[in-house]
Amino acid sequence: MEATMMSLFADSSRYVDAFHLFVKSSNEHQLMQEFVDTKLPELISSMGLKKQGIEVLGVGSGAGEIDLQMISLIQAVYPGVRINNNIVEPSAKQISCYKERIAKTKGLDNVTFSWHEKTSHEFESEIKESKQLKKYDFIHMIQMLYYVKDVEATIKFFSSCLAPKGKLIISLVSDNTGWPNLWEKYGSRLPLNDLCFHITAGSVQDILNSMGAKYVRFDLQIDTNITKCFVEGDSTGELLLDFLTDTCEFNKCAPPDLRDQVLHDLKSSAFSVFKNGKILFLNKASVFVVENS
Ligand SMILES: C[S@@+](CC[C@H](N)C(=O)[O-])C[C@H]1O[C@@H](n2cnc3c(N)ncnc32)[C@H](O)[C@@H]1O
Repeated sequence: MEATMMSLFADSSRYVDAFHLFVKSSNEHQLMQEFVDTKLPELISSMGLKKQGIEVLGVGSGAGEIDLQMISLIQAVYPGVRINNNIVEPSAKQISCYKERIAKTKGLDNVTFSWHEKTSHEFESEIKESKQLKKYDFIHMIQMLYYVKDVEATIKFFSSCLAPKGKLIISLVSDNTGWPNLWEKYGSRLPLNDLCFHITAGSVQDILNSMGAKYVRFDLQIDTNITKCFVEGDSTGELLLDFLTDTCEFNKCAPPDLRDQVLHDLKSSAFSVFKNGKILFLNKASVFVVENS
């Protein structure tokens, strides 16, 4: 790994900007909305009658787009029931975006929000120390497991926090897509540190199987437009490239041979497809719905 390159995740403000841009360049959140609308209703209604209120826990919620989609569905399935939405998110910038989103969203009168500006590990340690093992009806970890050191322990801990008939939703990138191809080929030359790990759905599935967990899996084929990465001097393209390589200012800091190789590969069929004049990164997410039976 070249010494001058720094992990994007180490610059939390640039990371958040890059992530928001990446989301804007893809249809992942639309696909999640479809998933929430079509697949989740049945899975959520199997949580049973909830008169006392519903406890929701979002881990790594980001700016809350998907959280609020899920809250809206829970409201539709359990009309009028009080919802306590707990958010574990270490980034103050993301929490601030989330609060702005809430301010613009109607129909949240029966929802209270409890904020935990911390990592999942800090949250877990705090809960264990307090010995107050609260149970949650619905827990979700959407595209966040890359940022925990011990994925298995994290999944086991949050599974243990599920109320009877509760559901745990985990989403992350699928195997055999552009991301793992990129990590496999360039991982040793990119600034991977102890903040971000290259984990895919296959590893999570292995963990769930070894736990004997009952789950269903859905795969979402995502279109992510990375065309701007190939426009010389385009700041949007540069930020997208930072997110893809998890490197702060990759274009400026990467050695020229690495930069040229990555850009060349990103256009190849192992990493992208050319469709309607756009270069679309091969991106797929797997969503696991784990049941507490
Ligand atoms: C890729 S974003 C996903 C955000 C959101 N779930 C979504 O899909 O739109 C990952 C989020 O996890 C948060 N995060 C990073 N490290 C974390 C950790 N150790 N524990 C909990 N959340 C973390 C980041 O701040 C970021 O908001």
